[in-house]
This record gives sequence, structure tokens and C-alpha cells, in this order.
Amino acid sequence: MAVQEVKVLSAKYGIKDSRTLAVARAHGGYSQIEKAFSMEPAQIVEMVKASGLRGRGGAGFPTGMKWSFLPKGLDKPTYLCINSDESEPATFKDRQIIENDPHMLIEGIIITCWAINSHDAYIYIRGEFVRQAEMLNTAIDEAYAAGLLGEKACGKDFRVDITVHRGAGAYVCGEETALIESIEGKKGQPRSKPPFPAVVGLFQCPTIINNVQTIASVPYIIEHGAEGYRKFGTEKSAGTFLFGISGHVNKPGVYETELGVSMKGFIEDLAGGVWKNRKLKAVIPGGSSTPIMTPKEVETCMLDYESIVEHGSMLGSGGIVVLDETVCMVKSLKNLLYFYHHESCGQCTPCREGTGWIYKIVSNIEAGKGKMSDLDLLLELADNMEGKTVCVLSGAAAMPTRSYIQKFRHEFEEHIKLGKCPFAG
Ligand SMILES: Cc1cc2nc3c(=O)[nH]c(=O)nc-3n(C[C@H](O)[C@H](O)[C@H](O)COP(=O)(O)O)c2cc1C
Ligand code: SF4
Repeated sequence: MAVQEVKVLSAKYGIKDSRTLAVARAHGGYSQIEKAFSMEPAQIVEMVKASGLRGRGGAGFPTGMKWSFLPKGLDKPTYLCINSDESEPATFKDRQIIENDPHMLIEGIIITCWAINSHDAYIYIRGEFVRQAEMLNTAIDEAYAAGLLGEKACGKDFRVDITVHRGAGAYVCGEETALIESIEGKKGQPRSKPPFPAVVGLFQCPTIINNVQTIASVPYIIEHGAEGYRKFGTEKSAGTFLFGISGHVNKPGVYETELGVSMKGFIEDLAGGVWKNRKLKAVIPGGSSTPIMTPKEVETCMLDYESIVEHGSMLGSGGIVVLDETVCMVKSLKNLLYFYHHESCGQCTPCREGTGWIYKIVSNIEAGKGKMSDLDLLLELADNMEGKTVCVLSGAAAMPTRSYIQKFRHEFEEHIKLGKCPFAG
């Protein structure tokens, strides 16, 4: 059966002026606030837990469980931070929510604030998203003017304020604790964990950090209940996902499907297959940090958290990149590593030095100046970069490196033997 789009979060995409409050409301926007406010906050947390919603920012952590980690009875405010940094190469789903339906996100924020007893939400938006930040601010202004936000949010004796905080272009500020530091006005460098932000977060207070898509899913869960949400996806990967697909396909873009559909079917049925009638060489399934997959792995893999792990990679942020047969895998890895080397915040030696070393070694191989011993050296460096640093950026550079060498070693060897790139002509 062909893979099909399921329009849950993208239901209003394509409707004229869908960004405006009037159109959002005409299509059901803010209709779940009353129901949410009639529920006890703990009931909402339980409902989100039961729905199986997992964070859409990359790690796939269960959302309701994260909310339940907030300490009880503390005499401190709780903050909600929405992660709209979206700097992972190949990921472009969250900006589309803001461009098409910012009020769905605001509705999700109001409900989440009620569920976790927070009065202050921050949306941390990537610095380069100038237009999207304007769109967001316009929608927030409209929501304030309509009494949906402010002292009595939606008429309830419950204050909800939203502040948009623009980043300044650092990928690492998407990491939740660097994001907190950046909102606090400090240099955006990750903190050591524990303590986790749910306990000690923004301004040293309990803080929940969730991705845009995660929070935008909340109104649907309130409306349809946990079972209604579970109607989509699999037992462990419930719901729908906005997958972005780019690279060598005929129809790149963002497509919403339920989790658990065939990866091959998604590429062929929704993205129109590999372009120019070429053969598939490889797929990056979930943003640039996720291990590369071979066509054989893609053949049987499903787009859900478990199946992608079983096939040697990760669902990550759902940014799929398709590489056709003409791609030089060494050059492709070199491009990725340039990014991680540039974005390392420099706090940890294995990351600061390691990202530079692996970039230089792969660049040498691509330029025809590599040695066979470089390949094992790269694998050794990757092992030493992973799991030994303050945040996982270092591992995000190590994982693709290891997978490219393990799965496409012959191409690296060919560069070394020929003393040049065989794809360079
Ligand atoms: C280097 C790095 C960059 C990240 N960038 C983002 C990002 O742009 N957006 C995002 O939602 N999560 C990003 N994350 C994951 C966040 O740390 C965090 O897990 C996520 O925002 C939690 O939201 P979720 O549970 O709803 O997925 C990044 C993590 C790392 C290590
Ligand atoms: S792993 Fe890299 S980016 Fe993360 S804190 Fe350490 S040096 Fe900074």
C-alpha cells in the first residue's frame, strides 16, 4: 500500500492566511483550551503520558514522563521553553509550523503551561529565522489582543505570558542547557547534567524544554484523547511526524505521516523517488547527526524510533537526506564534519580537538593525501569523542563518521589507493 500523508499537525497548511488568528479559529484553533482548563493539570500530564507522545526534537524522550519529573511543592516558578532553534542540518519542519500555524503552537503552550503550572513560556528561535520570528511575534500579539494570553489567559484566572528569544546563529544553542544559558544572556554553552533542567533549569528554576512540534501536538491529544492519538503510529512510536526530506529526490519538502510507515515507500510515494532515474546510494534518516544508511537497510526500515535503531541509525529530528549514486561519500562526510568542527563550543577537549582532527583527516583523504591507517585512526577518534563530553554534539560528529567508514569503507580506500577523488572526473 502506498505511503500517504496524514494531516494532523499540517491540517491548516495551504489554507489562505492560515497564520492569522481569524483563520486559525475558523478551523478549530484554540477550541481545546476550555476542555484543558476543565481538567486537573495532573490529568493532562497523564493523558499526554498515555498518548505515547515522544519529543520531536531529536532524542524522542516521552513528553508526559518529562513533565512528571518536575519537583512538587517547590517555592519557585516553573518555566516552559520551546525549542525552535532547528539548526540540525536537513531539519526544516518546525519553521513550517510557525509559518503555517503559529496559533497551534500557542494553543499548545497555553495547555502545557496549565498542565505544568507555568506562567512564563519562552520560545527560543534560531537567529537566522528573521521572518519566522516576525510571524511568531505577530501571532503572539494577536493572541494578547484577543485575551488568549496575559493575566487571564483565555478568560481563566491563570496568567500565561510568552516571550520570543532570538538566538544568534549557534547550533549548540539548540541543546537544551545551552539554550537556557543563552536565554539568561550568557555564552551559549551546555551545562553538565545532572541536575537536569526539570529540577534546575532557567534562572535556577524547574524548567521543561520541548520542541515546537512536540508542543504543537498537545491540542490534538486533548481533543482526541490518548487513544485518538494512538490511532496513528505503532505501540512504541505513537502519532504522526512531520518528516522533512531533501537531497536527490524529485519532490523534496515536509510530509506528515503516521510513524511506522515504510522508509522506502516514503521516499518513493511522497518524495517522488530518487531524481533523474538514478540509483539510491545512501540515506541520512534523521538529521546530519544520525548514522548513514545503505539502500539495503532502507529497503526494510520503517519510519519509527525502534525500526530505525534496528537498522543501525536513529529517527532523530526526522530530517531525511537522500543521496544518489553520483555522491562522493568522502566529500559528503567532509561537509558534515566541517559543520560540527565549526559549531563545537570548545568546552570539552574530545569535541574541540576531535572535531577538528577528524575533519582534517577526512579532508586529506578526499584530497588524495590519505593513508590506509587513517581509517582505523578515524574510528578510534570517533570512539574517544562519544559519551565523554558535556553534551552530545561530539557524539553527533562521531556517529556519522563511524557509519560512513563502516558502511562505505571501499570508497575511502579507493581515494587512498588512487591518490585522488574518483568522483572528481
Ligand atoms: C547540539 C544539539 C542541538 C540540538 N538542537 C535542537 C533543536 O534545534 N531543536 C530541538 O528541539 N532540539 C534540539 N536538541 C535537543 C534538545 O537538547 C532537547 O532534547 C529537546 O529540545 C527536547 O525537546 P523534546 O523532548 O520535545 O524533543 C539539540 C541537542 C543537541 C545536543
Ligand atoms: S561536546 Fe562540544 S559542543 Fe558540547 S559542550 Fe562539549 S565542546 Fe561544547
